[in-house]
Order: sequence, then structure tokens, then C-alpha cells
Amino acid sequence: MAPLTTFLPYLPLLALFTPTASCAGLVYPDCVSGPLKGNLVCNTSMSAVDRATALVAAMSNSDKLNNLVNNSPGFSKLGIAAYQWWNEALHGVAHNRGITWGGAFSAATQFPQAITTGAAFDDDLVEKIGAAIGTEARAFANNGRAHLDFWTPNVNPFRDPRWGRGHETPGEDAFRNGRYAAAFVRGMEGNGTTKRVIATCKHFAAYDLENSGSTTRFNFDAKVTMQDLAEYYLPPFEKCARDAHVGSIMCSYNAVNGIPACANAYLMDTILRGHWNWTGDNQYIVSDCDAVYYLGNANGGHRYKSSQTAAAGAAFEAGTDNICWATNGAAPDPSAAFSQKQFSQATLDKMMVRQYQGLIRAGMFDGPQGAYRNLGASDVNTANAKVLALQAAQEGIVLLKNDGVLPLTAPSGSGDASSTSLAMIGFWASKADEMLGGYSGTPPFNHDPVTAAKQLGFSVTAASGPIAQSSGDTSAATTAAKNAHTILYFGGIDNSVEKESNDRTNIAWPAGQLAQIKALAALNKPVIIIKMGTHVDDSPLLAMPNVRAILWAGYPGQDGGTAVMNVLLGRPAPAGRLPITMYPSSYTQDAPMTNMALRPSSNYPGRTYRWYDKAVFSFGHGLHYTNFSAVVGGASFPSTFSIASLLSSCAETTYLDRCPFPSLPVTVTNAGSDHTSDYVGLAFLTGSYGPAPFPRKTLAAYTRLFNLTAGQTQTSDLTWTLGNLARVDANGNRVLYPGNYTVLLDEPAIANLTFSLTGSEAVLDKWPQPK
Ligand SMILES: *[C@@H]1O[C@H](CO)[C@@H](O)[C@H](O)[C@H]1NC(C)=O
Ligand SMILES: *[C@@H]1O[C@H](CO)[C@@H](O)[C@H](O)[C@H]1NC(C)=O
Ligand SMILES: *[C@@H]1O[C@H](CO)[C@@H](O)[C@H](O)[C@H]1NC(C)=O
Ligand SMILES: *[C@@H]1O[C@H](CO)[C@@H](O)[C@H](O)[C@H]1NC(C)=O
Ligand SMILES: *[C@@H]1O[C@H](CO)[C@@H](O)[C@H](O)[C@H]1NC(C)=O
Ligand SMILES: *[C@@H]1O[C@H](CO)[C@@H](O)[C@H](O)[C@H]1NC(C)=O
Ligand SMILES: *[C@@H]1O[C@H](CO)[C@@H](O)[C@H](O)[C@H]1NC(C)=O
Repeated sequence: MAPLTTFLPYLPLLALFTPTASCAGLVYPDCVSGPLKGNLVCNTSMSAVDRATALVAAMSNSDKLNNLVNNSPGFSKLGIAAYQWWNEALHGVAHNRGITWGGAFSAATQFPQAITTGAAFDDDLVEKIGAAIGTEARAFANNGRAHLDFWTPNVNPFRDPRWGRGHETPGEDAFRNGRYAAAFVRGMEGNGTTKRVIATCKHFAAYDLENSGSTTRFNFDAKVTMQDLAEYYLPPFEKCARDAHVGSIMCSYNAVNGIPACANAYLMDTILRGHWNWTGDNQYIVSDCDAVYYLGNANGGHRYKSSQTAAAGAAFEAGTDNICWATNGAAPDPSAAFSQKQFSQATLDKMMVRQYQGLIRAGMFDGPQGAYRNLGASDVNTANAKVLALQAAQEGIVLLKNDGVLPLTAPSGSGDASSTSLAMIGFWASKADEMLGGYSGTPPFNHDPVTAAKQLGFSVTAASGPIAQSSGDTSAATTAAKNAHTILYFGGIDNSVEKESNDRTNIAWPAGQLAQIKALAALNKPVIIIKMGTHVDDSPLLAMPNVRAILWAGYPGQDGGTAVMNVLLGRPAPAGRLPITMYPSSYTQDAPMTNMALRPSSNYPGRTYRWYDKAVFSFGHGLHYTNFSAVVGGASFPSTFSIASLLSSCAETTYLDRCPFPSLPVTVTNAGSDHTSDYVGLAFLTGSYGPAPFPRKTLAAYTRLFNLTAGQTQTSDLTWTLGNLARVDANGNRVLYPGNYTVLLDEPAIANLTFSLTGSEAVLDKWPQPK
């Protein structure tokens, strides 16, 4: 396909272009009467690797060399049509070049952005969302409107609050992102022998910077210690690859310790395929778009190789199987690279087998009777998916502050409307499309807060507000506010600067919005802030007495306005938790974006709740409309465990971190008298086991309890493994240490439990070192 024009990869404007013929959707090969008839790739009784090997044996070398890019022309002699590997579905089927919208496929469910779903701490919900997205994606593919692989989820831990793509991730905690990733992949790919679609965990690895000064994602060399790599940057990918057996991984733009990720044999070969045994299933790795271009001699890139052919060869030999290129990078030329002996015949064949094994596992050669081939238009935008999108948004909303003004009183439908009249002010009050976030598709409907409030019977006066630094004319808002009982202010991040290709330099509330809130607060009416987007520092709002409550909704998706209004009314009550630390705005001066270290050092404050102790609101913070009390452990939980017997009673032979640890009973009581509410149980570990410095605390297990009515008690057994108790040493080894462990339930803790591990320390995972 010829480049349409020069534009940056991923920008939503891609959606405006009509795809050309070679970008059309999936065409299933014909195994009955086409040229493949009789080829063993069509024999569904054989293993995927044998089928792929048979197919690749029938391909000519020149055809193989043409099919190492995202817009693969296919193999016309074999009846295999063009295939576009670039399909996006981060939080719903999205607009991008592999997907053609239209007809019965003009809309798809748009779930909340990952940062909002992440805040729900509900892995069953994540799995259901993954299944719903996978189902809609497969229905698009079956109808020639998409292909079989989708580049989701984004599981890089959200390391720095400035990161423009942090909202695409479930948050800052590596353990939580790993559980999210595994649940999403399980849901999306399904658990059968045929995959519903192929998921792609991205971006491998240590990718979390778009641009900081002259450093960009295309040339950033992330300097990461073995300890931080093994402990923080890689565990979400370990869960994807080793434990959830994801079909595909995307290598990232940045370099890691001097070697660009897409040419990094240590990351892809030693760790991913070797240490995590991802070779068994022969899955493939795709490059981020133009990542290979930027590891060659391109301006602004790594200049790791002196030519584009050498770059392609280095990527292939290191383990990349498919090069994505966007239109601002020169087209890769694998044929030239091959004739220059930049990669071998064996590598070429291996890449083809991996790619096609992936598609075989997704049922591409199984014929019309194959699994999931029946999915079609009636499986898109189902009533269930709609309910799930609303539920996810509601579960992910976090109550940051409340002096008792919330929940709001619902309009009675008769009587006094004055106590329920709302001024709904701010940039986000009626901007439904902004609530979807990056990598969106077209939703079947898009509910903004103002419309939702009116539907609930509130008398509403709405006025927009500034999004950026300057306040402009806010007199309409002031007039609206004067006539209302309660002021709802929808604000927060300037989302025109929170996006891919752009990191922020400032994490303060935009000055224009702050000035408007100050003016509204001076009217002496209750002001309730509903925060959208990711992170801005709420300190100035916490100092304003008339700002009575703050609710964070992130990017709540197609039913976001409904979700916000329902939660303000307590139907349901909020129970989400911050999946990220809220740093003070001064943090951007104290922590250079390019410093990847997690631990603090002199003049460097460290990162995430595990190491940083001056948060405005900590990771895990989230209030309720009621109070909870809890008991953790209880009489049945032993106070001492021997490390030797924990290991000898475990059936795992290779991956000892997966050995179960006795589940942790948590008994939670809704101690209030009015409100039914969910409760997220976060179990953090603290203590002085292992070498100093000690993290403040570490999330080790979590669960979500549902619908506790006033006075009700529920018990949940939190499952965890020895790996969740381990710490990572300076070389990256995961070690279980003897010592005294304290479980702190909740943030701040409302219950605790102490137990000891005795005996000698044990290495659960010996970390391979780079050569
Ligand atoms: C398909 O594969 C099975 C299992 O290897 C084999 O028994 C069978 O003969 C094959 N069928 C054909 C038509 O080759
Ligand atoms: C696969 O998932 C379905 C639906 O969630 C479930 O009913 C079934 O038990 C699962 N099968 C296996 C083998 O785990
Ligand atoms: C590695 O993967 C292969 C194939 O999936 C599997 O048979 C083998 O048990 C795995 N090894 C370990 C140690 O899990
Ligand atoms: C929660 O408990 C605190 C202190 O015991 C009390 O002041 C507050 O009113 C309670 N809140 C609710 C919603 O029950
Ligand atoms: C909680 O209650 C709501 C409202 O009654 C209901 O829709 C939802 O299914 C319940 N959730 C669970 C997990 O029981
Ligand atoms: C654990 O606590 C016990 C009793 O409080 C104390 O005697 C022991 O020294 C502690 N062990 C470690 C390793 O800190
Ligand atoms: C654990 O709980 C007890 C009893 O509520 C309390 O006195 C103690 O301070 C708590 N310990 C920690 C580390 O929070």
C-alpha cells in the first residue's frame, strides 16, 4: 500500500482516510476448492506448528520476504489474500487502518479506557471485557472488516505521571498490571484450542516515555537496573507470555541499556522466549510502527545500525517476526536485507512459521465450521456488552474527597426542585466524545453527564469552561451557578496535551480551570469536582472549603456520563481505588522523566507508592459513602511458615514463584447504616525482610467484594503465591526471605496481620543476566 500522506502513527485522523484495497479486511482462505486444497495447513487434526510448517514449505522465498511487514500482500499462488496485522482494540474495536467501519459494523462497544477499568480492581470484570472486545473484534473480522490479531492490551507500568499514554494502561503497579494483562488476554483469546482473536501485549519493554526535551521514544535509551527490570518493567509481560500464553507481543521503540528493544536478543530471546518458555507455543513478535526504522540510520532515531537493511536484519535475528511501518518511515525492504545476508534462511522460515502458526491458532484455515466463525453483526453492541461498559465505568470511579455532601439527593419527580437543581460546568460536562480516550472506535451511543443528569430528572443549567491555562470568559458559568443549588464542575487534565507522542511537562490543575473553580467556590454553594483524564495535583482544591467533594472518573467510555451521575447518587456507591499515585506538581522538577530508577536516592524522590512517600493521594486511595471495618487473617491463619515446607509442598518444578501461599481470609463489614457499597480489599505487605532499602509497602493480593448492605459482613479468601511475598535482589533474582511480614489491609490500613517465614532464604526465580 502506498503511503496516503505523511502523518504521525496512531493519530485519530487515520480514521478519516478510506482504506485502499490492500487494507481491506480478512479474507478466509479456501481449503476446499482453492489452491490450498490438499495442503496439510488445512488438516485440523494436526498440531498448529505442523500445519504452519506445511504451509511455509509451499511458499516461495520471494513471497516470504514480502510478507514480513504489517501490510502483508499475502500469497496469491496459495490463495492467501493480503493481511493487515495492524488492528487496534485497546478498550473496544478502534479506528485504525486494519479495520473498516460501515454498514452493520458502524459502531462497537467502547469500554472505559484501561486506567478507569484498572481502578475497579476487578479481574473478573477485566476478563469479561476482554471477552466482549474479542467477540466484537472477531465479528468484524468474520465480515471482512478487520483481521484476526489486535494490538491490545498496553501493560507497561505507568511510571511517570507525565506519560502521554499512561491512561492506556491499568496503572502504576507491576503486579496489578500483570493480573490485568492475564485476565484481559484470557478473556480476549478465550480458553479453547482455537483463539477467538490474537491479543498482543505491548510494549516490550520499559516503554513509558514519548518525549522529554530532545529525548523521544524513538531514541530514548532507558537505563534500567536488572533489579528494576525484573521487579517492575517486565512482570506484566511475564504474566502475558509465561502464564496467559498470549499469542503475540509487540517490541517497543526505546532502547534498553543501549540496545533497541526490537533488536534486543536479551529481552526477546533470553527472557521472553527462553526464561519464560514462550517458544513452546511459537508465538510471534511484531514491532511497534517504525521502531525498526528508528533503530537504523533514520534521523531522530537510535542510529544503532548504519543502514535500514542492517536494522531489519538485526531486528529479525534478535526475534522480531513482523515489522510494522507507518507512513513517516521508509518502507522496510526485507528482500534487500536478505540478499545482503543481514538475516538467514533459517530465521526467515522461523518467522513465517511463527506468524502463520498464530493465524492457524486463530482458526484462519479451519473453514466455515471452525470455532468463532459464527460471530457476526448480532454479536456486536449486545445488551450485555452495554451493561458491562456501564458497570466498568461505575466500578472504576474513585471518590477522592467527600465531606458528606455526596451522595446527591435524587429528584423526586414532584415537589421541591430547588434542592436538586444543578449547574454543570466545565469543559467535560457535555463532551461525551472526550470521555472515550485514545484508541477509540465509534460507540453505539455516547452519553455525556449533562444529558444523563437531565434524564434522571435534574433541573440542569450547563456551561462549558476552559480546558487549558487561560480562563477566557466564564460569565455564563457564573450565571448558571448563581441559579443552582449545587455546582458540579467537570474538569481536570487538558486532554489535548495528554496523548500519544506527547508527555506533559506540568501536572498541576490547568490555571484557567482553577481560576474558574475559585470563582465558583466563592458563591458559597457546594462545589463538587468530577475529574477526568489522569493526573493533576488536587492540592489547591483540597485547600478550598467549598470544594466539598472530588470524584475521579478518568475516561469512562460510552456510558461515562450515566456512570458519573449514577455514582453521584449512590446508585451504585463509588468503590474504585486510585491505580496511580497522585504526585504534587513539584514532582516534575524533582524527578527527571528520563530517570527510570524506582528507588529514591539523593535529590531523587523515587517512584510509585512503593518508594515515594509524599503523595497528595496514594495509590489505592478511595473513599466510600459508608465506613468499613475488617479483620484480616483471623484465628485460622497460621502465624509461622517454614520456607522449606512451603517449597516441598508445592507441585511447581520450574516456576517456584507460582507456588501457592495459603489464601488470606479477609472479613469485611459495612459498618455504616445507610448505603450498600462494594469494597475493594487491597492487601499490602510491609516489613523488614530481605536487604535494605525496604519499600514502603507492596501490593500482594486484592479482591473486590460486591454489594455489602449496611451492617452486612462478607468474607473473601484472597489468593496469592510465593512470588507475591518475594523481593527482587540486585541481580534480578526473586527471593523468598525469612522474616516478619505484616499485611496492611487498605490504604490507609484498617486492619493488619503479622506472620513470619522461617528457615533459609530461597531463590524462586534465578534471573538470566545479559551477556
Ligand atoms: C490429518 O492429520 C491426521 C493427524 O496427523 C492424520 O491422521 C490424517 O491422515 C491427516 N489427513 C490428511 C487428509 O492428510
Ligand atoms: C472456558 O471458559 C468458559 C467461559 O468462561 C468456561 O465456562 C469454561 O469452563 C472454560 N473452560 C476451561 C477449560 O477452562
Ligand atoms: C514450556 O512450554 C512447552 C510447550 O508449551 C510445555 O510443554 C512445557 O511444559 C513448558 N515448560 C515449562 C517449564 O513450563
Ligand atoms: C464513618 O466513621 C466516621 C468516624 O467514626 C464518622 O465520623 C462518619 O460519619 C462515618 N461515615 C459514614 C458515612 O458512616
Ligand atoms: C450488585 O447489585 C446491583 C444492583 O442491585 C446488581 O445489578 C449487581 O448485579 C450486583 N452485583 C453482584 C456481583 O451481585
Ligand atoms: C520477628 O519478630 C520476633 C518477635 O517479635 C522477633 O523475635 C524476631 O527477631 C523477628 N525476626 C526478624 C527476622 O526480624
Ligand atoms: C495493627 O493493628 C493494631 C490493632 O488495631 C494497631 O494497634 C497497630 O498499630 C497496627 N499495626 C500497623 C503496622 O498498622
